[in-house]
Amino acid sequence: MRSVALMQKYSNRLKRQNKSIGFVPTMGYLHKGHLSLVRRSAEENDVTVASVFVNPLQFGPKEDFKKYPRDLKGDEAALRKAGTDVLFYPEAAQMYPHPYRTYVDVEYLNDTLCGRSRPGHFKGVSTVVAKLFNIVKPDAAYFGQKDAQQAVVIRKMTKDLNMDIRLKVMPTVREKGGLAMSSRNSYLTPGQRLDAAVIYKSLKLARKLINNGERSLARITEEMRKLIRQKKSARIDYVDIVSADTLRPVKTIYGDLLIALAVYIGSTRLIDNLKIRVR
Ligand code: PAJ
Repeated sequence: MRSVALMQKYSNRLKRQNKSIGFVPTMGYLHKGHLSLVRRSAEENDVTVASVFVNPLQFGPKEDFKKYPRDLKGDEAALRKAGTDVLFYPEAAQMYPHPYRTYVDVEYLNDTLCGRSRPGHFKGVSTVVAKLFNIVKPDAAYFGQKDAQQAVVIRKMTKDLNMDIRLKVMPTVREKGGLAMSSRNSYLTPGQRLDAAVIYKSLKLARKLINNGERSLARITEEMRKLIRQKKSARIDYVDIVSADTLRPVKTIYGDLLIALAVYIGSTRLIDNLKIRVR
């Protein structure tokens, strides 16, 4: 379905029939991570809607909006196989008719971690997800832990704006070597792909240090940095340990924490994270 109006009409009809709608928003070029969300939605709902929309609003002026990988035919086949009932793939001109004036911005959560290096990114994400929610009218929506900050931002948005939608955050799906699956992995050369495994390795190192009793945040992040620096193609954007709820830096290694990082491998910016509980 390409038309916003038709999608809304269809969702309204499903509601009248008392059918539950599960929703998986994506930007396409789908991999097993995306499809794990679709499968879960198909298990838990009468109808599963997936969207493919490369949202211009969440890309910075120097980011990869134009070259973001696209493969609608492949996505359609994969979505169908994973149990999607409706593929919604709107046109940008219908999502943002000129002049477009209304935005959703989740303060406080939008300017840490990735928000610091990508100003305006989360405003673009929360705005498009709010719009998609209003179009698809889901009962439940499925997100990946891979984009931990995004999930926290969207959860806060639904809470603050009284959106009656259950959010489900599903575990990060990884390649054999540990690299988190991402559409952007397609930018990597075979050599860079091997180097990129260091991102998850650094997270596992941090977890090991903490499990072994290390409680100095500076020492943990420095060990992560050291490991990552061993790869020539890697350049660190940030490495941080924050509260899993507020996403703000913690002073002590205690409670529900998010170890999060963004690393450039060549010119490709990749993110990953690990949630841990320290008692
Ligand atoms: P996209 O990067 O296509 O991701 C769509 C969904 O798939 C997100 O919820 C993301 O967290 C999840 N996902 C991506 N890689 C994953 C992995 N390896 N394991 C598990 N889940 C994974 O995130 C977006 O699109 C956009 O910002 C969007 C929410 C669609 C708004 O434009």
